[in-house]
Amino acid sequence: MSGELAELLRAMPKVELHLHLEGTLEPEMMLRMAARNHVSLPYRTAAEAARAYRFPNLQGFLDLYALGARCLVTEEDFYELAMAYFSRCREQNIVHAEVFFDPQGHLARGVAMGTLFAGIEAARDRIFREAGMTTELVLCFERDRPAANTVELLEEACLAGEIVGIGLDSAERGNPPGKFREVFGAAAALGLHRVAHAGEEGPPAYIWEALQVLQAERVDHGVRCTEDPALVAYLAERRIPLTVCPLSNVALGVFPSLEAHNLGQLFEAGLAVTVHSDDPAYFGGYLTENLVSVLAAQQMGIREAVALQRNGIDAAFCSAERKAGLHRQLSGFLESWGIPV
Ligand code: ADE
Ligand code: ZN
Repeated sequence: MSGELAELLRAMPKVELHLHLEGTLEPEMMLRMAARNHVSLPYRTAAEAARAYRFPNLQGFLDLYALGARCLVTEEDFYELAMAYFSRCREQNIVHAEVFFDPQGHLARGVAMGTLFAGIEAARDRIFREAGMTTELVLCFERDRPAANTVELLEEACLAGEIVGIGLDSAERGNPPGKFREVFGAAAALGLHRVAHAGEEGPPAYIWEALQVLQAERVDHGVRCTEDPALVAYLAERRIPLTVCPLSNVALGVFPSLEAHNLGQLFEAGLAVTVHSDDPAYFGGYLTENLVSVLAAQQMGIREAVALQRNGIDAAFCSAERKAGLHRQLSGFLESWGIPV
């Protein structure tokens, strides 16, 4: 890749739509929080933790992700975590981020819903005030937990704070989206947006189910759709966004390498693909690193980079007014770089 394209990708105003807040917990912060909250970890140094981040599959990662999340206990912890992520966004020119969080594990450890929201919302307010960066929160349900109390949990969350939508994450195989039909229906009735991880490790049938049973508006990952040509045609025709996370897919063995990833194929098939970072503290890079490395490996250039950003803005859950502002900002940036808009 030319240095100029890498610099363009860094400087371009970007949107992040697939980012787990707990997946931004860098080893140094994890160790600091573990010490002050008296949580034991199997690592003594950040280097030891980083060395342990080799994952045979999604479950191997989820085990370490849950281990790290145990260090988040107080309002201050959630504030620091969110603020550190938003500071990264400033460095990377991410101007709008829709942030996933997994409350069920925290609640099970005795953290109150209000604690979690208070910390995250203070950080959201501050980054908006100081940098004009907009953020939204997406409450994710962990699909390997029971669906039984999820509607109550959603109601509790809506009273405690502000969310833009709900999502579905965690161990995909053996946990089809339909299990969460009721809570997704309740979210729709509350006017909330809906998104679901599907077709990461699970089969194309789970993508169909996320769309047709859960009425998901976006699909997280969705990369296994290429195993079902009828599904690819359906996604392309309706321009249903797929939030693709290349470094994550390679780290979790979904693809053996970035060169073997199917991003280029999805793009050429006319799908509304976007690129994101999933769990950057665990997978070796934030949004800019994902874009730079996957575009180089897939031999994609400026045309594709711009289209990916436009797809991302179109797929966002923020207001129509904010989306129009993001499109204007991107066009202004491209003009300033002499790139035809
Ligand atoms: N939770 C955090 N990252 C995830 C991923 N890549 N897939 C499913 N659940 C997750
Ligand atoms: Zn994810």
